[in-house]
Amino acid sequence: MNLLFGHPRSVMRGYRMKKMIINGANGYVASNFIVELLQHNYQVVALVRSNKKLSARERMEQVLLEMNDGQQLPFENLMVFDYSLFEENFALQPEQLEAIFSEEADYFHFAASLKFDIKSKEEIFSTNLQGVTNSVNTFKKYSPAASRFFFVSTAYSCGQMNDVFEERFYDDAEIDSFRNYYEQSKRYAENMIRKFRDEEQLNAHILRLSQIVGNNQNGVTKTDYGIFDFSKRIQNIALKYPDSTVRLRINPESTQNLLPIDILVNYLMDAVRAEELPVILNMVAKQSVRNADIMNSLGKLLPIKLIPEFNIQHSEMTLLERIIDAGMAFTGAYIDINLKFDTTKLDGILNAQPSKICAESIHQMLDYFLNEQATKKYKKAMS
Ligand SMILES: NC(=O)c1ccc[n+]([C@@H]2O[C@H](COP(=O)([O-])OP(=O)(O)OC[C@H]3O[C@@H](n4cnc5c(N)ncnc54)[C@H](OP(=O)(O)O)[C@@H]3O)[C@@H](O)[C@H]2O)c1
Repeated sequence: MNLLFGHPRSVMRGYRMKKMIINGANGYVASNFIVELLQHNYQVVALVRSNKKLSARERMEQVLLEMNDGQQLPFENLMVFDYSLFEENFALQPEQLEAIFSEEADYFHFAASLKFDIKSKEEIFSTNLQGVTNSVNTFKKYSPAASRFFFVSTAYSCGQMNDVFEERFYDDAEIDSFRNYYEQSKRYAENMIRKFRDEEQLNAHILRLSQIVGNNQNGVTKTDYGIFDFSKRIQNIALKYPDSTVRLRINPESTQNLLPIDILVNYLMDAVRAEELPVILNMVAKQSVRNADIMNSLGKLLPIKLIPEFNIQHSEMTLLERIIDAGMAFTGAYIDINLKFDTTKLDGILNAQPSKICAESIHQMLDYFLNEQATKKYKKAMS
């Protein structure tokens, strides 16, 4: 147990908070983590791509304000750099690299392609493997000794396994051992980190996240990944064809491991505070949620009746059912699984028991998310 827990170190006179360097910083998970870090007065270096409309700094501040419900944050503790994940030294100037890596830090690699389809195979592997290799090389070249490298992976790098997925390395495997290239790319990246650890003493840790959802306390949900992407599709159908009944190729008794963003952020803060850390942590929820509960919630929130019929054949489906089925290319691989994750090592670093995730809290998130979607649609129609 960290004795400073509950008393932000920043309030201790003269204590300087550790520097945090974060790439993929404007993404959903990283930006929620940065909100918490800034609120605890950490010095944060964010590596973000600019786009045609906004500078890297504008993108970063915009998303941080959104994640913090419009409330101001101490931006004076935030440095933002526009970088290129694939280029040597991230295409940064020597004085920028000096400013970024000026002192011992925790470096988090969040940047990733979350695509999964065959067409995106090249993008998936270049981002999730070459991008990570370049990140490690840049970190190794410039970071003072004792800095830590955190690779953000996925619990789904377990692939198609029935055993408990332990907090240890697993060997590379062919694509038929995984549900998609995203999972495989993350397994490969983990093993690349393992090689750097073994051969070059890289001070690296791997954090395996399950599906990240909204806030477990208040339901606020600002991601449209996974079950929310699925819900958005069902909402579109329900609005277009109200009061329809559709059968879905879903096993109602299978489960989803859904980890609320606030619980994940607590896990990450505990990892940052821990001086001794295991190499791999499965950052997953302790309880899984049944598909049947998610479908019940959608049925209550939307004018549609959803019937799980796992063995329904394509030829037996109505046109509407076929449209939904086609849109389930990604979620489809996750509708008949009951994954089991070991969390012994994670438990060893936690300062408090996480709150329970249950059908009611997921219902609250779906409610929030679908309302936000409906509001967006309404505003678009009115503009
Ligand atoms: N969300 C989940 O449920 C979940 C579950 C398990 C693991 N994870 C892992 O957690 C991490 C964050 O996920 P997330 O949900 O927060 O994803 P996200 O919101 O899609 O963020 C992805 C981030 O990666 C950046 N990125 C992608 N391609 C890049 C490239 N070529 N060069 C530079 N930056 C690039 C994106 O920048 P742009 O905005 O510029 O594209 C963005 O900042 C990922 O490593 C993911 O695999 C997430």
